[in-house]
Parts: sequence; structure tokens; C-alpha cells
Amino acid sequence: MTAFKNIILIGFMGCGKTTIGKRISDTLKMNFIDTDSLIQKNIGMSISQIFEEYGESEFRNIETKTCIELSDSFGNVIATGGGIIKNQKNVDALKKSGVFVYLKATPEFVYKNLKDDNSRPLLNVDDKLSKIRELMFQRVSSYEKYSDLTIDISEYSIENAVNIIIEDLKGLGML
Ligand code: S3P
Repeated sequence: MTAFKNIILIGFMGCGKTTIGKRISDTLKMNFIDTDSLIQKNIGMSISQIFEEYGESEFRNIETKTCIELSDSFGNVIATGGGIIKNQKNVDALKKSGVFVYLKATPEFVYKNLKDDNSRPLLNVDDKLSKIRELMFQRVSSYEKYSDLTIDISEYSIENAVNIIIEDLKGLGML
């Protein structure tokens, strides 16, 4: 099983990359990595603390280092941070190691998942739904451009989404 390429989940904050990634990794007996958790572990601070202490640009540098470190790995399901597609270096590094699965979600779906969540510094604003719409509008073309496989996550239960992703990856000869 570990000869598999990495399965790399991309998509907006709160679309379910971590939850779905863990389920895929359990089903396929692959290792699970969450880039934000890895960053938090390596730096010894939460993502919010990193943003507060060092700013977004330093967080992005750390994020890029993490992607480069993962570029030679294989056999992992990797849940990425929603901003990973902002930097071509991240995309190039991760693309070397596997396939990109884009979990597509509506702003309303994301808002429902994150309305009571304070762990995303970019969404700690008064009008969270508008901010989600604004950021998603800026990013959606990149998610689409880089995806090898897209699933509209708002339409399925988690279990169905996991099964569809696995079957589609098999269909594409990626598993
Ligand atoms: C970010 C997404 C977050 C985290 C950071 C920035 C973004 O990860 O990396 O708060 O710019 O979209 P999740 O997508 O896992 O929430």
C-alpha cells in the first residue's frame, strides 16, 4: 500500500479536508498528515499564535517549507491548509508527490461549519460569511486549475464522499 502516491486534499477552510482525509487514510491503510497540525507541532504554537506573533507572511514561509519537506514523501493522505494554492512553490512541491483532490464547497456550507470556530485567523472578522465569499472568490480558480479530481462536498455525506473519492481515484488509475 505504501507505494501509492500521496493523495493531497485541497479546498477552502472548513470544507472537511481533515475529516475526509482521515477517513480515506483509514480505509486505504495509508498514513494521514495534516499540514497545519505538522506546522503547529514543529513550531510549538497554534496557527492563530503563529499569525499573531509572526504574521501571515511568516506563516506562509513555514507552510512552503512544510510542502517542500513533504514533496519526497509517498503513501500519505495529506490535508492541506486552504491557502496552500496561493504559492506556486507549494503546488509544485506537492504535485511532485501525488494527486490533488479538490473538495469543492459553497460559502454557505463553509460558514455552517465554521460559524462558531475561532481557530482561523483570516476569518476572525465581524462578517464571517462575506469574508468567506470574498476569499473563496479569489481562490476558486486556483483550486480548479490545480485539481486532478474534484468532488462537490456540499452534496454528499462524509461517508459517500470518501467512497466516491476512492472509487474515482481507482477509476483514474491513481490507486
Ligand atoms: C488558511 C487555512 C487554514 C490555515 C490558516 C490559513 C487559509 O487551514 O492554514 O488558518 O489561508 O485558507 P484549513 O484550510 O485547514 O482551515
